[in-house]
Amino acid sequence: MTQHKPIKKAVFPVAGLGTRFLPATKAIPKELLPIVDRPLIQYAVDEAREAGIEQIIFVTGRGKTAIVEHFDIAYELESTMEERGKDMSVLDPTRATPGDIITVRQQVPLGLGHAIWCARAIVGDDPFAILLPDELMVGEPGCMKQMVEAYNEVGGNLISVLEVPQDEVSSYGVIAPGAEISDTLTEVTGLVEKPPVAEAPSNKIISGRYILQPEVMRTLETQGKGAGGEIQLTDAMARMIGNQPFHAVTFAGNRYDCGSKTGFVEATLALALEREDMGSEVRAIAERLLAK
Ligand code: UTP
Repeated sequence: MTQHKPIKKAVFPVAGLGTRFLPATKAIPKELLPIVDRPLIQYAVDEAREAGIEQIIFVTGRGKTAIVEHFDIAYELESTMEERGKDMSVLDPTRATPGDIITVRQQVPLGLGHAIWCARAIVGDDPFAILLPDELMVGEPGCMKQMVEAYNEVGGNLISVLEVPQDEVSSYGVIAPGAEISDTLTEVTGLVEKPPVAEAPSNKIISGRYILQPEVMRTLETQGKGAGGEIQLTDAMARMIGNQPFHAVTFAGNRYDCGSKTGFVEATLALALEREDMGSEVRAIAERLLAK
């Protein structure tokens, strides 16, 4: 089997304005909104670490510094907890190894493609992962680990996809599928951002996990504005197809679109119901509310 350069870097774009969650996101970054008791960004960073990622690159913007604080050591909190004999293991995932987290700034939120391009100097010549923290992917193993496993087989570029009802495709980026490599791995021959239902090449939508080759940075350099007047990552990837191998991994697990209010509520309910410490209590509450 060919050895592909390992994926050690991941970019987390967190510079968006989160307008769909206003006023909650006026002073708090959307990526710090919690699902039960873990902020969205924590789920994404944990997923990346599980997949062997060592370098975490946050593309931040104004008002987003609390995301970096979240992964720092909170001395006052920790010493008070220690004095009171509280269990501090809950803070373990928030402790980054010194030097593991790098931030770059996207001064103006010009779109996801632009946000990724802002990380070009740190990505350098390495293939890298991208995780959109507002898409919560729950699976065993996690989505990025499933992708890294596929990457180790085929190399090149990979995107994670899932199937949705055909009439919902126009809200998403959609793939044109090529040869099927296995049940979960398909070649990608084209990508379209938010196509009209009748023109959609499939019902496989791009979810927020990618493994890309560094050449995407050069493509993004010349990428004009696309859907919504934003510089779209999908458009840049579409231009790379044909010059570089591109595959889609169908994620075995659940995806919650926590960038939308209903998706956020769904994720909260689903994860609370699965929790050993509170699942049965939450189920009783939900049943009581539904009976009203
Ligand atoms: P979204 O479009 O879902 O996030 O981008 P948004 O723009 O913050 O949300 P709304 O639509 O206004 O409610 C997906 C991810 O890409 C980041 C966002 O922070 C989010 O994590 N993003 C988006 C950037 O970093 N920069 C951008 O210019 C756009």
